[in-house]
Amino acid sequence: MQADRHLFIVADERALAQSLAGLVGDSAQTAIAARGRFNLVLAGGSTPKAAYALLAAPPVRDALDWTKVHFFFGDERCVPPDDDQSNYKMARETLLAPLGIAESHAFRMRGEDEPQAAALDYAALLRRELGAEPVFDLVMLGMGPDGHTASLFPGTDPLLDDDLLVKAPFVAKFESYRITLTPRAINAAREVAIATAGPEKTAALTAVLEGPRDPVKFPIQIVRPAGRLVWLVDRVAAAGLQTAK
Ligand code: 6PG
Repeated sequence: MQADRHLFIVADERALAQSLAGLVGDSAQTAIAARGRFNLVLAGGSTPKAAYALLAAPPVRDALDWTKVHFFFGDERCVPPDDDQSNYKMARETLLAPLGIAESHAFRMRGEDEPQAAALDYAALLRRELGAEPVFDLVMLGMGPDGHTASLFPGTDPLLDDDLLVKAPFVAKFESYRITLTPRAINAAREVAIATAGPEKTAALTAVLEGPRDPVKFPIQIVRPAGRLVWLVDRVAAAGLQTAK
């Protein structure tokens, strides 16, 4: 097991959102104190949404200098930014707009563009903003019931062709492209927080954390950051874990 890996099991989805918001706040304080800015990667999906609402409200809202936070995205659906499927739209409505974040500090993936071009453009943007080998302070991730994370879905070898920071894989189950950070970009981070909850995650969580390593089947197993890895899960999702008994 990776040395700096932590598993926190909390009571329910509300506690999960609180823990996640607290972790983001702490991580931001540390980064801003050390380096003067906080480079945060946001996740899509339902689990982070409640945490975004907590971040955009007191006390976390008032405890942070949000002008020093730079927002990036872990993945995006190939839709325009005002589409209900857009991860950017969800983040804008729950977090970025309520906090009044300047557009110059929120870097979205352009889901409305041709997917391969959008992936290349986002990789170029990351290098412009963060240097040749970008290191995020915190990458927020979720996990699907099939063991996917960001838009790294089962069946495609997530290690393959990992020279790029961003890719646009075709996801057969949705018959569409997605734009996603690659394992290389995710794993360079100082910290990765994976938050997942609910009964539909129990089997995947057990297999991912306690089963054999098979990242083609469970792409989230590819997440092994250079820095700290924190799993935040609720009791229901953790119900199958030996370590939770
Ligand atoms: C997305 C995500 C995706 C998500 C998982 C878990 O755009 O859908 O980034 O990887 O995190 O599917 O989603 P939930 O938190 O909604 O279960």
